[in-house]
Amino acid sequence: MKDVGFIGWRGIVGSVLLERMIKEKDFNSINAIFFTTSQCGELIPFDIQNKCKILQDAYNIEILSSLDIIISCQGSKYTSKIYSKLRLIGWNGYWIDASSYLRSFTNSVIVLDPINLNFIKKKIDMGIKTFVGGNCTVSLMLMSLGGLFKDNLIEWLSVSTYQAASGAGSNFMKELLLQMKFISKISNFINNSTNILDIEKNISKNIIKNDFPKKYFSVPLAGSLIPWIDKKINNGQTKEEWKGQFETNKILNTKNIIPIDGTCVRIGTLRSHSQSFTIKLKQQLSLNNMKDIIQSHNKWVKVIPNDMSHTINNLTPAAVSGKLSIPIGRIKKLNIDKNCFSAFSVGDQLLWGAAEPLRRMLKLLLNY
Ligand code: HSE
Repeated sequence: MKDVGFIGWRGIVGSVLLERMIKEKDFNSINAIFFTTSQCGELIPFDIQNKCKILQDAYNIEILSSLDIIISCQGSKYTSKIYSKLRLIGWNGYWIDASSYLRSFTNSVIVLDPINLNFIKKKIDMGIKTFVGGNCTVSLMLMSLGGLFKDNLIEWLSVSTYQAASGAGSNFMKELLLQMKFISKISNFINNSTNILDIEKNISKNIIKNDFPKKYFSVPLAGSLIPWIDKKINNGQTKEEWKGQFETNKILNTKNIIPIDGTCVRIGTLRSHSQSFTIKLKQQLSLNNMKDIIQSHNKWVKVIPNDMSHTINNLTPAAVSGKLSIPIGRIKKLNIDKNCFSAFSVGDQLLWGAAEPLRRMLKLLLNY
């Protein structure tokens, strides 16, 4: 049995990964060792079949270098500190990472096996040992539009995202709930005779005051939105927007870059990211043809009929959170160009957007 180390398993992505691995009984085929950056020596807080019941020090290079595989969901800061130290002393194990730090390294592969399984296998055969999960919106976009990419039908893609608070981390999720609570206190006297515009004015006045909870977001998200995610880069994009083109093309290993750009927006949902696409195809396709290509690509994508009832019941974060399915709907030809289509997709960014590709990468390595 391979020794597999887990770092960052208490965070949002790590917890979802563990949940999935327990559900799929993945721990039966590995010897899991759990690491901690703060509670070294304590007992692991759950019951799985493994030898080492004590939490190990996540900075102990000697123990880490004895492992066959390391999975880190601890974040870029940890990876930047530890990864190169291990490689420098000659550690030749597999490193599987959820953070973005290693994604642009030449010797890393961004993994999303329903999209790039053959490429991943080729890289394993070549001796590549570093595998990284992609950005959540990129992975979800590829899972939904995989058929069009596979048939090389996309000339360019423009995207607007609607990203949940959990994409920013647990503190941000908690803050969104505190903001909602604050707003609900102001509005808890609503009844039939309430003047709704008076309440709205009161809320609008109060959410920009100093006592509104905004330590993490800096501004209100509840009752508002934030059209900015991650840091600014030189060309006017945010880093989140930059990842769209870079990571998609790296995952697909394209020879000619497929242009992708758009605007990434944080909205006041807790979990699951949504995206609105404008797709320019290289050739004319009928609507049905396009839907068939999308639907037949993988078993998780699900084309939702373009009507109100199917859309509002199936194509929302409320319908998707906690599930592996990737609904895509609102597929229609746009009147701006005969080869332009729109589509809207939602996916649980903690599953296909983060934990699931890592879990599947581990399984692939174990069975290889
Ligand atoms: N960068 C993403 C976000 C994380 O901020 O939403 C993926 O969930």
